[in-house]
This record gives sequence, C-alpha cells and structure tokens, in this order.
Amino acid sequence: MSQDKKDWYKDAVLYELYVRAYRDSNGDGHGDLLGVIEKLDYLKDLGVDAIWLLPLMPSPLKDDGYDVADFYNIHKDYGQLADFKLLVDEAHKRGLKIIAELVLNHTSDEHPWFIESRSSKDNPKRDWYVWSDSDKKHADTRIIFTDSETSNWTYDETTGEYYWHRFFSHQPDLNYDNPELRAEVKKIVKHWLDLGVDGFRMDAIPYLFEREGTNNENIKETHDYLKELRSYIDEIKPGTFLLGEVNQWPEDTIPYFGNGHDEMPLLFHFPIMPRLYKAVAEGKRGSIDWIMARTPAIPESCQWVVFLRNHDELTLEMVTEEERAFMYDHYAPEPRMKINVGIRRRLAPLLGNDTRKIKLLNSMLMTLPGTPIIYYGDEIGMGDNIWLPDRNSVRTPMQWNDSPNTGFSEADSLYAPVIADDDFGFKKVNVAAQEADPDSLLHWMRQLIKVRKEHSALGRGQFEILLSENQAVLPFLNSHEQDVVLALHNLSDKRQKVNLDLSRFAAQSLSDCFSGEQLATASQQTGLELKPYEFIWLSIG
Ligand code: GLC
Repeated sequence: MSQDKKDWYKDAVLYELYVRAYRDSNGDGHGDLLGVIEKLDYLKDLGVDAIWLLPLMPSPLKDDGYDVADFYNIHKDYGQLADFKLLVDEAHKRGLKIIAELVLNHTSDEHPWFIESRSSKDNPKRDWYVWSDSDKKHADTRIIFTDSETSNWTYDETTGEYYWHRFFSHQPDLNYDNPELRAEVKKIVKHWLDLGVDGFRMDAIPYLFEREGTNNENIKETHDYLKELRSYIDEIKPGTFLLGEVNQWPEDTIPYFGNGHDEMPLLFHFPIMPRLYKAVAEGKRGSIDWIMARTPAIPESCQWVVFLRNHDELTLEMVTEEERAFMYDHYAPEPRMKINVGIRRRLAPLLGNDTRKIKLLNSMLMTLPGTPIIYYGDEIGMGDNIWLPDRNSVRTPMQWNDSPNTGFSEADSLYAPVIADDDFGFKKVNVAAQEADPDSLLHWMRQLIKVRKEHSALGRGQFEILLSENQAVLPFLNSHEQDVVLALHNLSDKRQKVNLDLSRFAAQSLSDCFSGEQLATASQQTGLELKPYEFIWLSIG
C-alpha cells in the first residue's frame, strides 16, 4: 500500500488506542505516549496503518479527556508535547499514521474559557458558550446521556442563567456563532497539524449549532461551519484524514460528505454496527439487508468507516424499538451491562467468547464497504469489567503477558484493575501467549488483515449484497477493477447450503483467498456450503 497516496485511508486498517490503557513507561500506573512508542512494532506487525488516539489533552477526566481543559497541551499522565512529537516521528518512521481526537462541541467546565464565561454576563468570553435565561428553549432536543442528565440546560448561580450542554452538565457546549471562537478553533487545528498529526477523529459534530425550531442536530449552520473548517484544513494540509463522529441514520449522515470534497472525507457507519450482532444472534441476514438498502451511495472520494466495538457503549440509538429490545435481551442480560442507550461490553464477551462468532464478525468488518477499525485488545479477545463505572468497563489495561500487571505497568497501583477472571483474565488472554500459539486469535487477525490488504476490492471496491434464498447466508461482493472478492458468512449455528447467481462471472474460478484453493466455478447456480458460523472469502477470476 502506498502511504503517500492522498486517499491512503481507503486501503487502510485503523486501530483505536486508549493511551492510558496501553503501556505505562514511567511506572505511575497510567499508560503514556512513550509507552505507545514501545508498542509501535507490535502495531506494525499486526498490520494496521493508522492509530487513532483517544483524547490526550489536559482535562479533569470526568469524561476521560472528552472534557478538555486546554486544547494546546498534553495531559500530564500521558507525557509532554515533546513525547507526542516523538510518537508521531516514530510512527511515521514505521509508515504508521497518527490520528488525534478533536473535541469541538464542548469543553470541560474547568476550561479557563468557561471559568471566564460564567464569571459575568459581560465577560468577553461570555458569548463563547450558549447561555439563556430560560431552560425551556430547545425542548425538542433529545438528551444523549440519559442515565446521568435530565436536561440539556444547567443553571449557573453566578449570573442566574442556564448554559447549554448536549453531554454531561460538566461539558458546556461552545457557541459556534461566535467568530472569535471560530478563529481560535482554527489555531487549535493548526497547532496539532504542525505537530505532525495525519488527521482527526472529530467528536460529536452533529451538535455544533443551535437554532430555534429545530432539534439542533445536523442543521445547515453546522454543515456550513464544517465546510469552513475543511477549507481551512485544505489550505494548510490537504489530504488530512478527517473522520466525523455522526451517530445518525444514513440519510442524515450522508450530507456530512458534502459534495465529496468540501466537508468530511470519512464518516462512521453507526447503524450497521448493532445489526451485525443482531444478525448473528438471529441467524439471519434481514437486518443487514435492511440497513444497507437504506444506505445511499456516497461520493467517490469519500469513505465509510466501520467498527465492531469502541471506547463507548455499543450504541443502540440508531435502531428501532424492537431491535433495541432484542439487543438488550440477547446481549445485556444483566442490568449493569447497560448504559444510556447501549451496552457497555466488549466484543469477545458479547459473543460468549465463541471464536467462530468473533472471527465471523471480524470477517464482516473487513468486507463491508469502507475502512475498518479495530478496538485495542479486541485482536486478542480481551474481556470487560462491568463492575467498573460508566464506560470504563471496556477501558481496562491492555494484556501483554502473564506477569502480575500483565506487562502493562510496573506500578503498585494501576488506573484500573487488570481483568483477572477465569475466561478473560490476563493469565490466559495476553499477547505473549498468543504470539507463542500459531492458532491464536492474534495470529489469525494478522492473517485476516494481510489478506484484506492483498485485495484492493476490500476498501476501494464497489459493494453489493447478493441475493440468496437461504436467509442464514450473507454474501458480500466487492469489486475494484480486476479484483473481485466474494465474502460469504454463515450467520447460523447449522451447516448451510447456498446457491448464488454468479452468471455475470460465468466459468471463472472461485478460489479461497486464504489457501488459494479453487472451491467452485461461477455459474448461474453456484452451489457452496458453509459450516456453522463459517465465513469464506473467494477471489473471482
Ligand atoms: C463522544 C465520545 C464519548 C464522549 C462524548 C462526549 O461521543 O465518543 O466518549 O463521552 O463524545 O464528549
């Protein structure tokens, strides 16, 4: 893969990394940037191309750094700006890209801007946040953190007014109508680009503007502003990777691609994610067919980003009531597994630690349209700890080996306990053990990534779901120029036969992408058989 291509991200595999959890280089119990540098070779070997780092900036950490208190520095637990620069350089030396987090919608209430803003009505920073004398405004705007918040307004005694916040009440929303704030945001972006970052994951962008009479999501003013920011970024560093966190239905998400060149080049596909789990639980493909049929084509220059899990709850916002009930029933049997509108568990425990299902979902991840992200630890099948509060259940230390702190840290006390239960504990699930075992999930993930990268169709291809009478089998067809890959997934726990109409490829051979073995010849009735939860990738040609 050429790293210099402007659209390198189309062929890339991304890795989401929580610095605090990864490797503690200075023995203070918190992972840090120098620790990440120690692990770059591991990431290179895994085969990923870019690392998305969760928030790094100074913060009181009431929302793990998504509550920013200084946009220009590094949190002391993580190191210093010089360490960050070193990380970028070391990553680049290995051909890895670094994606930073850009939290634009809000700050911490401990940010000096907010401290000033709340101090008096005529403070010059007053207008940098959204204030009102009434908490009745924007009554139609939904609350996102339903477990902890009862309103999007919080009363502030100093000036007797309410401030607006879409997330926690300690995260006041910035006011993007203010030109000075907008100028400041450009400085922030330039600061990080000058440090060498290759791009940003842009947090919570649908909520930047508020307008009376709307639900304050996806409104025109927000799109206009994102275009303004994109054009500024294009001036300083064209080709910057910009990934928007837009947790919306496809029809509301697509407008963030703009005309293909003037807004977001990349967006997460949120609604497909829970349906991958649902399809496997039901043993049938209907919910995936439904959401993909509802997903319009996107501009040629743009790309979806797909994922199985991330640092947040497995969100169930973009599903129907029935689908949500099904998901809770199946995947969150205990109340403490739920949070807000979602499930705070990791991939392997969600799937009952069934390796067949873990592999099946990863196969879908790698063959759906777009760029896949792997959440740290999922490549070794790490577990979660639902006894920790909030989303910390899925943010525990990376399990490197079976030594007392699992090779994560030499400290006496860690920011969070290492997982130690029978099924997922670090004695059993760790990188060193999986390195030594050729049949491990880690080796398998490396192979999966490697084979994905041998096919430009995966990442760059035109995507199609083929029809099949057998509803337990899900065939994804990806084609790019001469490269055609058919990925079949058996969603059920039974053997399945399927007949596919491949007349357009008549007489061409279907060879297993992993073994090279020819398994069939394309015809109008191409018969194939899959074992329970098996997947097959076939190269056609
Ligand atoms: C995003 C982040 C989440 C955070 C929220 C508020 O959704 O992914 O972790 O809590 O924004 O900043």
